[in-house]
Order: sequence, then C-alpha cells, then structure tokens
Amino acid sequence: MSDVALRPWAADDLETLRRANAPEMMTYLGGPETEEQLVARHERYLRLGSEGAAWMFRIVTPDHPEGVGTIGYWRHEHHGEPAFETGWAVESAYQGRGFATAALRLAVADAAHREPGTPVYAYPRVANAASNAICRKAGFTLEGEEDFEHPKGTWAASNVWVLHPPAA
Ligand SMILES: CC(C)(COP(=O)(O)OP(=O)(O)OC[C@H]1O[C@@H](n2cnc3c(N)ncnc32)[C@H](O)[C@@H]1OP(=O)(O)O)[C@@H](O)C(=O)NCCC(=O)NCCS
Repeated sequence: MSDVALRPWAADDLETLRRANAPEMMTYLGGPETEEQLVARHERYLRLGSEGAAWMFRIVTPDHPEGVGTIGYWRHEHHGEPAFETGWAVESAYQGRGFATAALRLAVADAAHREPGTPVYAYPRVANAASNAICRKAGFTLEGEEDFEHPKGTWAASNVWVLHPPAA
C-alpha cells in the first residue's frame, strides 16, 4: 500500500507548479513555462476548481506534505462524447517510487465517485515511456494513437488511454 494522498489545489500551490516546471520534467509537455504562464495556470486551476470544471491536486506523502507533484482531471470531450481528461507530474527526486501510479489510481477513483460511468482519458506522447507505463499499471486500456496539439502549435503522436469506471 502506498501512503500517497491527493490534496485539492489551493492558494499556496503556485510553488508546487514552479517545482513541476523543471526542464527535464517538461520534455513531453512543450518545455518549461514562463513565470507569467505558471501564475496564469495556477489561477486557472483555482478558478476551474471553483466552477466545477477541473479538479487539480497536490500529490502528498506523509514525509512530503509540501508535495511531490501534481495530478488532476478536467471536463473534456472525446470524439464528441463527455469524458474527463487526466494529466500528471512527479518531481524528478521522487520518481520511480510508484507515486504517480498511486496518485493516478486515486484521481480516477475521485472522478468515478464524482461522476460514475464517465470515461477518463489520458494522452501521453508515444515516446513518454514512464507516463505510458503508469496508464497501463493503473488499469487503463490502450485504444490507439492520435496526433495531438499540445501546447498550442506543437503536434505530437500520442497514445489514447481510457479507463471506464463502473456506472453507479
Ligand atoms: C510520468 C511520471 C509522472 C512518472 O512518475 P513516477 O512517480 O516515477 O511513476 P511510477 O513510479 O508510479 O511509475 C513509473 C513507471 O514507469 C516506468 N518507467 C520509467 N521510465 C521508463 C522508461 N524510460 N521506459 C519504460 N518504463 C519506464 C517505471 O519502470 C515504472 O514502472 P514499474 O513500476 O513497472 O517499474 C514522471 O516521470 C513525470 O513527472 N514525468 C514528467 C512529466 C510528464 O511527462 N507528465 C505526463 C505528461 S502525459
């Protein structure tokens, strides 16, 4: 069992985002963001949370209440169908300990509780071996491969992973 827990995104999480913005962690996410982009992202997470459009979290452990990374899910459409999309990051110093897999299981359970039956999608780049590994380990099914634009202007081949939580 893992001691990983998710803490809802809060006003003091700008620092959590700054730490997740390390160049080596942004390889498959379009490279590091500017301070201005980070502040905008932080404010967006808070706003979307209060609007019920996204649920972002700080990933914490008993030894690291300040956080080891971020995860979340947000409203999304997959080929016109209502869905959630999920995304994550675990800081380099804490990688390889199962934290991302545990956090993904918790995020998916939270989504299933919030909206039973809504599928959860993840679109890691094909080259992002660690992210594809955690999808597999958390029970997602690989549906195929598609090109996605993220960030704006950058297209890359991504895997389409889906988890269908049970209906209520
Ligand atoms: C993806 C990420 C969150 C994984 O975090 P983590 O806490 O190290 O993940 P876990 O320890 O739960 O699992 C990692 C798994 O990936 C596997 N893995 C790691 N690097 C790998 C590689 N190069 N090739 C194959 N498998 C790899 C590990 O072996 C492990 O699987 P195992 O437990 O079966 O051995 C982390 O690498 C990260 O933040 N990357 C940068 C941000 C990012 O790319 N975000 C996702 C965008 S979709």
